[in-house]
Amino acid sequence: NALPSERRRIPTDWDGLAAEVAGCSACGLCKARKQAVFGVGDRQADWMFVGEGPGAEEDERGEPFVGQAGKLLDAMLQAIGLKRDKDVYIANAVKCRPPGNRTPEAEEIAACRPYLVQQIELVKPRVLIALGRPAAQTLLGSETSIAAARGKLHHYAGIPLVVTYHPAYLLRNLPDKAKAWEDLCFAMDVMA
Ligand code: URA
Repeated sequence: NALPSERRRIPTDWDGLAAEVAGCSACGLCKARKQAVFGVGDRQADWMFVGEGPGAEEDERGEPFVGQAGKLLDAMLQAIGLKRDKDVYIANAVKCRPPGNRTPEAEEIAACRPYLVQQIELVKPRVLIALGRPAAQTLLGSETSIAAARGKLHHYAGIPLVVTYHPAYLLRNLPDKAKAWEDLCFAMDVMA
């Protein structure tokens, strides 16, 4: 959870926050981005999903999870009866595309964290789902592997937090979809 000393002075309202993210130059990722990718969905959703960072299509379109991984995320949402525009809010650990879709560096994730923290404060979800390691690490505030973090109930700022695989990983490791399904069922139990 964010310590006050860790927080830059950033706007606490949606419009101000989105404008700040759009013009952000807090880390080197701003240099190569086409645009920052803020977040999408219901700003009062019960469910909030946190991914890693924009890929090429997200950088182009300005919306998280609109490429191949996004199609799988949409299918995962549908499987538990959720729609991306109505029932969930989706954001990323970093708002700008890392060049060549590399994993964001710890300093880049740290520079972007205040935006995610503020988005969570505004949405006030009833459950957080971390998709993949960078999202899990920024929300848990510790180094972890997905294998170690999944299957347990964590909390971020008092909000139940479930960790699962990133959809892009699942596209390359189809058998692990069954484990992601277990994680979503676990999250549904948390919400019940
Ligand atoms: N992968 C992510 O983590 N986020 C996106 O927005 C797209 C792909």
